[in-house]
Amino acid sequence: MGDIQNIVILTGAGVSAESGVATFRGPGGLWEGHRVEDVCTPEALWRQPELVHRFYDDRRAKLGTVQPNAAHEALARLDAEWPGGLLLVTQNVDDLHERAGSTRMIHMHGELTSALCASCGTRVPWQAPLPPGTPCPACQMAALRPDIVFFGEMPYHMDAIEAALAQADLFVSIGTSGAVYPAAGFVRTAKHHGAQTLELNLDPSEGSIWFDESRMGTAGTLVPAWVEGVLSS
Ligand code: OAD
Repeated sequence: MGDIQNIVILTGAGVSAESGVATFRGPGGLWEGHRVEDVCTPEALWRQPELVHRFYDDRRAKLGTVQPNAAHEALARLDAEWPGGLLLVTQNVDDLHERAGSTRMIHMHGELTSALCASCGTRVPWQAPLPPGTPCPACQMAALRPDIVFFGEMPYHMDAIEAALAQADLFVSIGTSGAVYPAAGFVRTAKHHGAQTLELNLDPSEGSIWFDESRMGTAGTLVPAWVEGVLSS
């Protein structure tokens, strides 16, 4: 990896698939017959708050039954051992990257283990079920909602992500279908700034043509092999 200093990694649901967390668009991606695009919107939260809260309550409860897999572990090892710049940007709302030990990371789509006050914007750590109408500990309004970035809402930390992409020498996308923007556009941003681009996924993502190299397979196999290669180069 001669002249590689700064690495930006984007992960999606495929990185957690082997831990038993359902992906959004693959087989089993429907939840009680609903597409993710029909549940994860501000309109759905307004019209059917019980449905939307239950969707995330189910996924939050599932966290206690799943463990990080070899892909999460390898990315945590890279975080610990890579001497240059590194930013792991995950679209995942599970906590498996941090449970594996990653620290230089951003949850751009929010976190299951957090609640957001729709009234005052306070974010509070949250582990329990979160029924609609739960009062905010800061402002007392009955306005706590899942701290998830819905379709049409602004992802978290975009400034930091854009800054890292502008400095990236290598951009690696792992386990994401490339169906959801702005994350799906990161490869082009990185490429325009001169980064090498690599995709590790089960099958080609929607933006596959933008990658200099695509390796197809499971994250649990591909990611440890890639990390080993980076650290030993
Ligand atoms: P998707 O479900 O759209 O895509 C998962 C990708 O992972 C697909 O391309 C699969 O082929 C691939 N995949 C499945 N199993 C894999 C494995 N074992 N190893 C490697 N790859 C595998 O999930 P995302 O791209 O993450 O947003 O979806 C993006 C966003 O859409 C999510 O963050 C979520 C959803 O709406 C929010 O929750 C806000």
